[in-house]
Amino acid sequence: MVNVTIDGKDYRAGEGQNVLETALENGIEIPHLCYHEALAPFGGCRLCLVEITRNGRTFLTTSCTYPSLEGLFVRTETPEILKARRLVLELLLPLAPGAPLLQDLARRMGVTEPRFAAGEEVDHCIRCGLCLRACAELVGARAITFSGRGYRRKVEPPFGEEALNCIGCGTCVFLCPTGCIQMKDMDGVRTLDRWKRRLPLKACTSCGRHYIPFAAIEFARQKGRQPPPEDWFELCPDCRQD
Ligand code: FES
Repeated sequence: MVNVTIDGKDYRAGEGQNVLETALENGIEIPHLCYHEALAPFGGCRLCLVEITRNGRTFLTTSCTYPSLEGLFVRTETPEILKARRLVLELLLPLAPGAPLLQDLARRMGVTEPRFAAGEEVDHCIRCGLCLRACAELVGARAITFSGRGYRRKVEPPFGEEALNCIGCGTCVFLCPTGCIQMKDMDGVRTLDRWKRRLPLKACTSCGRHYIPFAAIEFARQKGRQPPPEDWFELCPDCRQD
């Protein structure tokens, strides 16, 4: 454990924890969009800015990428920090206009206007990288990636083609903070338009509901840490409980 001071109060932080985790664990709210406890820190959204004082230097940095070190002095709500966070949010808003989570943050942070108008080709993605990091780090499929640089940067399947490694698990859909990844199940097929992917679904042998892509079953059998029993996917999760 290490000792850190946040907003004038002393806290104990676990070894390896970052400043954002220490703050959240102690009920100190810091807005964040690209941090997830199950993923490696990324520092993509820049919303979790705090002020750090260490070795006589004071600077703004992202709390999700800065380790909680012994004797660290952190401030989370100075006028400079709030101004910098507002600027970050103003820049994010035009990327995903209307996204409820961003609108809610804007209300709470006092942001009334985006910094610039949304472009014609707005794709509602804020480039936080949660989807592709989860796909690589949690699922292990590595179906999508960043392409391009600067304002041309976007998330897409390799070479913009169909995401052949996508198994249709839906992890990206559940984690996306703007809801820009849609998944639709219809007529026994799961469609993820954003990844140009259509995957046939297996039907439960009891209730008949199409519930999981064959590709996900194959992936679990071949790459799962503990491959499930041979007949595991015959029943959907609901019928398995009965
Ligand atoms: S949560 Fe820290 S940069 Fe996004």
